Amino acid sequence: VIFESSQEASIIVAQEIASLIKEKSAQNKPCVLGLATGSSPIKVYEELVRMHKEDGLSFANVVSFNLDEYYPMGKTNIQSYYYFMHEHLFNHVDILPENVNVPNGTVSPEELHQYCIDYENKIKNLGGLDFQLLGIGRTGHVGFNEPGSHINSGTRSIILDHITRADAAPSFLGIENVPRKAITMGVGTVRSAKRIVLLGWGLNKASVLKKTIEGEITSQVPATYLQDHDNTTFVLDQGASAEL
Ligand code: GLP
Repeated sequence: VIFESSQEASIIVAQEIASLIKEKSAQNKPCVLGLATGSSPIKVYEELVRMHKEDGLSFANVVSFNLDEYYPMGKTNIQSYYYFMHEHLFNHVDILPENVNVPNGTVSPEELHQYCIDYENKIKNLGGLDFQLLGIGRTGHVGFNEPGSHINSGTRSIILDHITRADAAPSFLGIENVPRKAITMGVGTVRSAKRIVLLGWGLNKASVLKKTIEGEITSQVPATYLQDHDNTTFVLDQGASAEL
């Protein structure tokens, strides 16, 4: 779906999320949301915060799982995704702290493998993700599933692509400060969501979005694995759709 602007699109996406939260709440069920970081979802979070403050939207039944986190990475570090999510969403709504899950960038290397298995199982035990919000990296990654990721991959640690680290360099004041690794939900974790919305804004994403939406399905562009998911929408603005 192509919108005139990312602002307009973000409001529509936030409305879909809000409807789902309310529907689940009316059924006395948790609403399990897969959430993303980066600049792409910021306006969606802004609108959800507005709906909480002005329209009384409650997050009391929301259980959230973030896609990824740099590794190693402290929670109080301003570059952490833990910090980002609290700044942009969690600190401004009534989600219960125990219902917030962001991969923990401080687990020891010895515990990391088991930690990832437990993260995956926690999602499964709640009945899976009801909704997964995604951005896309210029390597075609979703979460931090870099080129080469398997379609059935689960939550795991991964080595970041050079392009991904270069894109993150400004916020780390230099590529040498960008962690070389991350923890990410897998492509399989993402694809198991009942509903997926991928956001793409701006000319900078036009090329990777052409490959993602119109190219052959390949591990070299992991976002192409979403083409045959039966309930995925790619939500783009004018710039991002320029090469379609
Ligand atoms: C990072 C995140 C991704 C995100 C991507 C794009 O690599 N791990 O989840 O989609 O950045 O970020 P932006 O939305 O800022 O373009």
